[in-house]
Amino acid sequence: MTASVSAPALASAPASADVATLRVVDKQVRADGVVTLDLASPSGGRLRDWTPGAHVDLVLPGGLTRQYSLCGDRFDPATYRVGVLLEPGSRGGSAYVHRELAVGDLVGVGGPRNNFPLVPSERYLFVAGGIGITPLLPMVRQAEALGADWRLLYGGRERRSMAFLDELAAFGDRVLVRPQDETGLLDLAGFLGRPRPGVRVYSCGPAPLLAAMERACADWPPYTLRTERFVAVDGGAPARTAPFEVELARTGTTVVVDPGSTVLDALGRVGVEVLSSCRRGVCGTCETTVLAGRPDHRDALLDDDERAANDCMYVCVSRSRDERLVLDL
Ligand code: FES
Repeated sequence: MTASVSAPALASAPASADVATLRVVDKQVRADGVVTLDLASPSGGRLRDWTPGAHVDLVLPGGLTRQYSLCGDRFDPATYRVGVLLEPGSRGGSAYVHRELAVGDLVGVGGPRNNFPLVPSERYLFVAGGIGITPLLPMVRQAEALGADWRLLYGGRERRSMAFLDELAAFGDRVLVRPQDETGLLDLAGFLGRPRPGVRVYSCGPAPLLAAMERACADWPPYTLRTERFVAVDGGAPARTAPFEVELARTGTTVVVDPGSTVLDALGRVGVEVLSSCRRGVCGTCETTVLAGRPDHRDALLDDDERAANDCMYVCVSRSRDERLVLDL
């Protein structure tokens, strides 16, 4: 179904130089609770290139930004496609996209950025849960185009809530569709098989699925599993409850971050603007290089090894374990 055309309206003003104003040129219902938006430059110009796993930020009314994976044709230079699930209880983000954003409207779009890149391999196993299919769809197209050996396990609540089944049907038995009301919980162990080298496993979906994937891949070679989360993680209590100092190496300025404020906000108060978007530790926009000190990582982006390296942090959510951090700002 294509949404009705309305008078052009700007959903929200662009928030930074990284944000372009694009027009909604198509809106389609893809499954129960899932729509896709096609976005294009009002001038019809070429959009920035992207790779499978990339996402864009939609800048929505009230300054809300939400991250959505690009799921269209990466070789279409003029159009971005995103899939949006209507989140239960949504009051601004996905509810606005589903109920108000219409074909013809203008919307701020940041990115694309890719925190979930597809690394070269001859064998891939993909596991999607629900709307988590969106970043994996361009990946399976790429794996197919490159002649890789790949399989996709795609679970959802029920068949009618699962988007893109028609497109995936073209891949035949490489794709296993497993609606929970028909087949129960996903058989991850059966799909993954025995741990073996040379396989890359990519998964995106709800937190319980990603936790189950981490358990299922615990005995696989390091870095086999890559996951994508668009949900902020609960980092628990901060490592420090006392204020800490952030030294800005390029100017020598020192900023005190008290327990009630973020590093990003403390920097903003002294006029140091770090580009940000989600402010929840999920989009990667505010990545900042750490020169000294140990961050208290509270984002959903870094894996354990990246955290242990202590050479970068997401200043919208992450804090400090030490009295002092030195940042490359
Ligand atoms: S602004 Fe998104 S990770 Fe910090």
